[in-house]
Amino acid sequence: MVGLPARGKTYIAQKVCRYLQWLSISTRVFNVGNYRRKLHGAHQMHSFFDPNNEAGEIARKEAAAEALKDMLRWFEDENGTVAIFDATNSTRDRRSFLLDNCKKHDILVMFIESVCQDENLILQNIMEVKLSSPDYKDMDPEKAAEDFRARISHYEDAYETITESDYTYIKLINVGSQVVINMIQGYLQSRVVYYLMNLHILPRSIFFSRHGESIFNLMGKIGGDSDLSPRGRKYANELPKLIHKHLGDQPLTVWTSTMRRTIQTAEQLPYPKLQWKALDELDAGVCDGMTYEEIEKKYPEDYANRDEDKFNYRYRGGESYRDVVLRLEPVIMELERQQNILIIGHQAILRCIYAYFHNLPHDDLPYIKVPLHTIIKLTPKAYECTEFRYKVDIDAVDTHRPKPQTKSAKHVVNGKSSVSNPLTNVSS
Ligand code: SIN
Repeated sequence: MVGLPARGKTYIAQKVCRYLQWLSISTRVFNVGNYRRKLHGAHQMHSFFDPNNEAGEIARKEAAAEALKDMLRWFEDENGTVAIFDATNSTRDRRSFLLDNCKKHDILVMFIESVCQDENLILQNIMEVKLSSPDYKDMDPEKAAEDFRARISHYEDAYETITESDYTYIKLINVGSQVVINMIQGYLQSRVVYYLMNLHILPRSIFFSRHGESIFNLMGKIGGDSDLSPRGRKYANELPKLIHKHLGDQPLTVWTSTMRRTIQTAEQLPYPKLQWKALDELDAGVCDGMTYEEIEKKYPEDYANRDEDKFNYRYRGGESYRDVVLRLEPVIMELERQQNILIIGHQAILRCIYAYFHNLPHDDLPYIKVPLHTIIKLTPKAYECTEFRYKVDIDAVDTHRPKPQTKSAKHVVNGKSSVSNPLTNVSS
């Protein structure tokens, strides 16, 4: 990363990390601020960051060197693929130091610079993110903001925006309203560039709902393309009122799959609609249209293998969760570009998208609870998504199969307006 403080570097680093991890690319962020706090304490005043403060300069270099050492070790020992070195790296000297060290280890370097001249955005970032940083814990917010502004001004004194013509870089100006790219090479770098070009920070919410209960749900069968059950239709009729209650008069676009049950659920909604083939349910191959009991009887080995590693298990002639994540990548890209979206989808599909927004591990992903007749509202914030679940009072079958006992769930139940309650079923 490159850029002055409060330019959203950590936000961008975390987003890219989450996106790549979701795609199964081993990725980790190394935040130099954390190393500085560990080595030199959290409560450093602005003078610590003054480029004329020799002791401060040495201490900050030390933190960067320590982070770099850990990063190189991670590549070497843990077979990492993408490391994100989250720091200001705001001088040519610092960037060349990083590049030289990476070159020695055959690591390709791509710089991501965030330039922001919009005073309101900078102020918003300071208020929302920086003042809750451990650097300013227990400090009067006004004093903290003043100190942070002085810190920024020290960095401005030494700041050199990227112009190194032989470096690979992307420069995002004013949250991507202008983008400059240089010497981008290869698939991974171009995916990251494309992803960054789609990001925005406008406030918005993403609503998830499974289709209303279907005839196949009632029969305990998986897959198929059945119609809604009478209770499912009732849910579809209630949906417009509920969405309006939690969204107000804001604009919304509804996405469905190409399957009857999601299209029927969206029928009454008075918003623009889009059907995505990529949102169709996980393809159960030869097991399509069977109940779990039938699958266990006819394909006992497959059934056991699926319980062993549900994320990677691929149905004969069908798909795995891993396959579904890959086919959903364009959906995620488009979701990042859009504002309010309601996805009326299927259990496996919504689990994959939900896991992306909450950064959940692949092992847990296939067990996330996405019950029927429940609206989930996610609102992306600086470093996480807030979540509300609204359970609609129309009975439906429970299609969730818990994780086998041997694997312990990693997430715990949160409260009514919890940030993350992936393995639970919370309503409010
Ligand atoms: C920090 O210490 O918070 C960041 C160090 C830097 O990258 O300048």
